[in-house]
Amino acid sequence: MYPQVKYLREKGVECDVIIGARNKDLVILRDELEVLGCRVYITTDDGSLGFKGRVTDLIKKLLEEGNKYDEVVAIGPMIMMKFVCLLTKEYNIKTTVSLNSIMVDGTGMCGACRVTVGGETKFTCTDGPEFNGHLVDFDEAINRQNMFRDEEVRRLHHSKECSCF
Ligand code: FES
Repeated sequence: MYPQVKYLREKGVECDVIIGARNKDLVILRDELEVLGCRVYITTDDGSLGFKGRVTDLIKKLLEEGNKYDEVVAIGPMIMMKFVCLLTKEYNIKTTVSLNSIMVDGTGMCGACRVTVGGETKFTCTDGPEFNGHLVDFDEAINRQNMFRDEEVRRLHHSKECSCF
């Protein structure tokens, strides 16, 4: 998100940025973004900093207060991007997402990062990672991202129990 905001600010584009985190200790890049001259909003799940709630709750609040946006860019957890897109679709706001699909070769050959966008198969590594969020099949993307969840959890436990990594 940071390089995109920096680029837009250099072009004179006004930006509102929302940083969402579970709690205040996980908020990053606040100062760096504020220096760029954009309005920075913080949301935390536990209310320890800024707005208490989800990113989507704050977007909805800003829209209901009359703020107008030409485009929304959502980058973060797949589930957050899904719900941002559902919301911005209601308000008919163009929305770009940056997908974080699992990647293996990064060359468009292995198919690991396959996603469906507008009914077509795309590879996040070579066709993206940015896509029109309103066209992304998020349910499929989330399922595919969770494909190795059990293995990841097993490996995480293993790495905590031994020092072989
Ligand atoms: S990572 Fe293999 S096709 Fe994208």
